[in-house]
Amino acid sequence: MATSSSSDSSMPTEVPAPYGNGPVPSVAPSAETAPKRLPKVRTHHLQQAKNEGRRFAMLTAYEQYAAEIFDEAGIEVLLVGDSASNNVFGNETSLPVTVDELLSLCRAVARSAKRALVVADLPFGSYEVSPQQAVATGVRFLKEGLAHGVKIEGGKFYAETVRAMVQAGIPVMAHIGFTPQSEHALGGYRVQGRGDDAKRLIEDATALAEAGAFCVLMEMVPADTAAAVDAAVDVPTIGIGAGNATTGQVLVWQDMAGLRGGRMAKFVKQYADIRTTLSDAARAYGDDVRSGQFPGPEHSF
Ligand code: KIV
Repeated sequence: MATSSSSDSSMPTEVPAPYGNGPVPSVAPSAETAPKRLPKVRTHHLQQAKNEGRRFAMLTAYEQYAAEIFDEAGIEVLLVGDSASNNVFGNETSLPVTVDELLSLCRAVARSAKRALVVADLPFGSYEVSPQQAVATGVRFLKEGLAHGVKIEGGKFYAETVRAMVQAGIPVMAHIGFTPQSEHALGGYRVQGRGDDAKRLIEDATALAEAGAFCVLMEMVPADTAAAVDAAVDVPTIGIGAGNATTGQVLVWQDMAGLRGGRMAKFVKQYADIRTTLSDAARAYGDDVRSGQFPGPEHSF
């Protein structure tokens, strides 16, 4: 019986797929060569991080390759944010994105991440009407979107909603401070929780954590207010423009990696300039095509 080996020229060789995930390798890696699998990140690991004074990182992700790359880079939490509205779908704000639009992005991210905890935003209008509406939408994100948890925006008014979702088995991350879905009600992008208003945020976070939220995210909150909120709740906190005292930090990945152009918020740190890299690549490709340099013989059959 013929056996296959890498030197057997009669066997079809495995070529890189031109797109997609590629062929499944026919030879399973041995115990020695198999990459060591880190355990999946669960909500209790984030709690453990807070208890032990460790920090974790969250990035938004909206599609396969970003999810894969961030997951492999060890980012603990991937957020399928409603910021997809203005970072994927071309809207000006996060308000127009729909449940169905976000669900398909969420599926792609959840299928691509092997280790990270995948949290999805419930879009504007999909949870505010009643706890029942929130449970129904949350169930869709876990069932159809394959998310591991969901995030909702709003303060203590939503404690009852969080309680209903948690009872239904949906892990909930609460988002307080500046909540982009309420941009028009809040009068634009404004820092929340300054001075006496810090008390309101502490009350919000406490009520939401007591209702069962596994984590409280704060956006555009003064660092001292965020530190006070973090000290007031046992659950981990995540900050974006909320100083350095929270358990975790989050950024929109296109901001972090420099894909988006234009003015950046003060809280953004850019770790790369992939807009320039991509633009240079596209220009070089266009020039090569126009001059007849591409495709060369090595790219032709
Ligand atoms: O949708 C999003 O990107 C967010 C972050 C700003 C936290 O909610």
